[in-house]
Amino acid sequence: MPTDPDLKKFAESAFAAIEAAADPQSLEALRVRYLGKKGELTARLKRLGGLDPGRRKAAGEILNRIKAELNERIARRRSVLEEAALESRLDAERIDVTLPARGQRPGGIHPVTRTLERMEALFMQLGFEISDGPEIEDSFYNFEALNIPEDHPARAMHDTFYVAGGKLLLRTHTSNVQIRVMQRRPPPLRIISPGRVFRCDSDMTHAPMFHQIEGLLVDEGVGFADLKGILEDFVANFFEREVSLRFRPSYFPFTEPSAEVDIMGANGWLEILGCGMVHPRVLENVGIDSERFTGFAFGMGVERLAMLKYGIDDIRMFFDNDLRFLRQFA
Ligand code: FA5
Ligand code: MG
Repeated sequence: MPTDPDLKKFAESAFAAIEAAADPQSLEALRVRYLGKKGELTARLKRLGGLDPGRRKAAGEILNRIKAELNERIARRRSVLEEAALESRLDAERIDVTLPARGQRPGGIHPVTRTLERMEALFMQLGFEISDGPEIEDSFYNFEALNIPEDHPARAMHDTFYVAGGKLLLRTHTSNVQIRVMQRRPPPLRIISPGRVFRCDSDMTHAPMFHQIEGLLVDEGVGFADLKGILEDFVANFFEREVSLRFRPSYFPFTEPSAEVDIMGANGWLEILGCGMVHPRVLENVGIDSERFTGFAFGMGVERLAMLKYGIDDIRMFFDNDLRFLRQFA
């Protein structure tokens, strides 16, 4: 320690200030204050030059010892402060592994897709194969080949969307696939054809785009009782509960006789399908001998079955894509 009382005071107050520095910034300010280019100790070292050589050596040694001590104390204090800063950061940023996880929300299959897949699976169990057909169709497959000529009043029932300046249309039902399948392959046939269909129509039970599953079975000796049996079987398997079902006589130009099937829902009877025995003229149109072969066909509304299954009374809920609705099926 210096004997010079002034220097001694300086050193002691500097050491005390360093010890009291509360954070790295104030410590750095002290370093600059004492040891910086214009620092207090630096100034004293500079003044050594003015001393006479006899005293210079001793004074220089003392000042350099103080300088070394200041450096050392500053370094020590800095590591203490850094350690404390790290501790408090670790404390503040600690991860609490016992908190409940945020959870994942995997997406779900859309209720219409779910229904469609279930229907396909049930018909495949009954030995039906799946066939595809085009959504953009020409009027031959959608109408004429199905015994609906241009001027037939049944065309008015279909609310058709025309495209390509009226040369093509969006199919109004999946019955176009009946014709395409029968043109390609001879009987026996046992197919279903699921897909999108389009009609200019919208209310609680009608959507402008919806799904149908067409069914077609052509073989020798097929009768209306077979149709009825298959449909009743399907409905029992699909709903897995007792449902009231009624066959109602109806009319389609491509089946004879024809029927529609209704199921009792929350708002009374809801039509789920049209069906009938394939009209002999349709068989002749695709070159099948209608004396030897008979067949039945049906077209089911997929959304209608989903409505009945899940107790939904407005078909439009399927297409609003409101997550609060869709999450109930996830
Ligand atoms: C037909 O589309 C016939 N092609 C069904 C058919 C096939 C009859 C084979 C005979 C032989 P229909 O227009 O009734 O028929 O429609 C069939 C089913 O599709 C209806 O019973 C209903 O379940 C559903 N459907 C019809 N229009 C809509 C719509 N706009 N929105 C939702 N579902 C509909
Ligand atoms: Mg109908």
